[in-house]
Amino acid sequence: MGNYTITVLPGDGIGPEVTEQAILVLNAIARRYQHTFTYHRRLVGVAAIEAEGVAISDESLEICQQSDAILFGAVGGISNYDGSDKVKPEEALFKLRKGLQFFANLRPVKPLKNLLSASTLKPEVLQGTDLLVVRELTGGLYYGHLEPPVPGKPSEIRQTEHGREAIDTLIYTETEIERILRVAFDSARDRKQKVTSVDKANVLSSSVLWRQVANRVASEYPDVTFENLLVDACAMHLLRKPTSFDVIVTENLFGDILTDEASMLAGSMGMLPSASLGTHKTAHGRLGLYEPIHGSAPDIAGQGKANPIAAILSAAMLLQYSLGLKDEAAAIEDAVTKTIEAGYRTEDLREAGARIINTQQMGQKIAATLLQ
Ligand code: NAD
Ligand code: IPM
Ligand code: MN
Repeated sequence: MGNYTITVLPGDGIGPEVTEQAILVLNAIARRYQHTFTYHRRLVGVAAIEAEGVAISDESLEICQQSDAILFGAVGGISNYDGSDKVKPEEALFKLRKGLQFFANLRPVKPLKNLLSASTLKPEVLQGTDLLVVRELTGGLYYGHLEPPVPGKPSEIRQTEHGREAIDTLIYTETEIERILRVAFDSARDRKQKVTSVDKANVLSSSVLWRQVANRVASEYPDVTFENLLVDACAMHLLRKPTSFDVIVTENLFGDILTDEASMLAGSMGMLPSASLGTHKTAHGRLGLYEPIHGSAPDIAGQGKANPIAAILSAAMLLQYSLGLKDEAAAIEDAVTKTIEAGYRTEDLREAGARIINTQQMGQKIAATLLQ
């Protein structure tokens, strides 16, 4: 029986649709376990740019910092693609991640048994997959484009005498590499005791340093099996034999790309949750930012087609990591599994014999299962 404050940043496109269902499920948890969750809803992304002129206001960042956890939907929209927007909705993410020092992004991939046949991959390849991608989140190409690095500032295209050019720089310090490697090894100790460090050490200097640090940290964890893998080979092995992985640790952009790929092991982008953690402490544990790995999905926004499970499982991670409520987190995972076992699916997981329901109905089914 506890009191907790959660800042909710629904964002754009399907962000608000899936976040609403995560809150419905959190409210079911509150009822079942007699907790009180107080939500502070703030604007973020396009919604914030239109109302406040910035992707996230300083006041909202302050509220995030003072809460026990942050639940995030998605930001961005079609207009983002032409590159001409002065303020990008994605800046909200960079400000949150860098500003609150959420350097460790945990993205678990554990396909549900009843969804193996919904994947584009063969069930016998997927069977037994249970991996965790630990993505470095506050360094690399996302931030190092100017000297000194300016957080959240978009890359600049500039005119030269030879035509236009654009520069992004990939910078990692030894300290940044070491702390994310330690998150990976500590996580592996609670899992299947294996770490795969993914880099491009045959080409990039930052990866050569990454590999040296990874080898050094690995020597401190003799109980954990360790391997280095090049990122292109990793992309292939993920589809060839996903069961060979336990913890994958990698830099920011590689982790971004590999996890969209890995989402298809679980059947859909709408299935993968994430937690972004740092060192910031709260009264109940560590402050964290919880969000599905998917984006605002403009192609399906407003149609009730979005799968809210990634957002709902992100809420479960929030309970586990920031509020220390492990039983409650497990109860959500169990309710998701039962709802899928009962045959309910959103559009993205359509297959023969499935009972297709919309975003809201999926949230309601999972919440109802929690209260049965
Ligand atoms: P996306 O993840 O939004 O969508 C990719 C594909 O997956 C689309 O076909 C979409 O319909 C599908 N999909 C995504 N989530 C789904 C769900 N919950 N249920 C069912 N289907 C789902 O990626 P995109 O289209 O490349 O990007 C759209 C915008 O989202 C861009 O502006 C991008 O920058 C932004 N984005 C934001 C975040 C975030 O806020 N964390 C993450 C990724 C992308
Ligand atoms: C993610 C997203 C973001 C990223 C974008 C929207 C900036 O793709 O969280 O995976 O690349 O980190
Ligand atoms: Mn991504």
